[in-house]
Amino acid sequence: MNQDDLKKLVAKAAIEYVVPDTIIGIGTGSTANHFIDFLADIKGRINGTVASSEASAERLRGHGIPVLDLNQVDEISVYIDGADEADPHLHLTKGGGGALTREKIVAAASKRFVCIADQSKVVDVLGNFPLPVEVIPMARSYVARELVKLGGNPVWREGFVTDNGNVILDVHGLTIVNPPELEARLNNIAGVVTNGLFALRPADVLLLGTEEGVKTITR
Ligand code: A5P
Repeated sequence: MNQDDLKKLVAKAAIEYVVPDTIIGIGTGSTANHFIDFLADIKGRINGTVASSEASAERLRGHGIPVLDLNQVDEISVYIDGADEADPHLHLTKGGGGALTREKIVAAASKRFVCIADQSKVVDVLGNFPLPVEVIPMARSYVARELVKLGGNPVWREGFVTDNGNVILDVHGLTIVNPPELEARLNNIAGVVTNGLFALRPADVLLLGTEEGVKTITR
């Protein structure tokens, strides 16, 4: 099986975690796209979705699946999304697609977070995948200097603008031994909207697509 087959495998398995008659939080990226496509088959069983990006909202609407504004919704039963890296504690790096801020908001507002990923995403220590940081445009250079002081090598994702009108710095060269501590520290830099570490609110379940089938890892 190739990587995309493994993504499809976990996306399909995640359908089991959809809670009938509730609102479902939807992630962003190629694995989440597969999930959206499978969700279309059972769309009559849910009350609607909250999307973590304009791209996912468009795909959901294309399948005729209702997309609600988070402010209209009291509770999201489960959030289903991919990741760029996952460690054994289910701390994640996300934001390769640039949707980290809305992903973090929807994850925070959800009772349960089910992460779906192919086996290549599992690491012992986060940091090999450059850590995305969403930044208010006027603060870009200042934040980059602060990130250098923390030992990182920030690279501006030139030409990319987030759904929120901001820019992304991808931070290379970090070995993230304490993800919750770094997540909080980065979010304290003036001008940072949020960073791609999901450690203060990690995944609750990781469904991993492997050659041997889907592995379920819980915290
Ligand atoms: C989007 O901003 C990201 O957080 C994605 O969830 C992450 O990049 C995983 O993407 P794939 O499912 O495409 O690997």
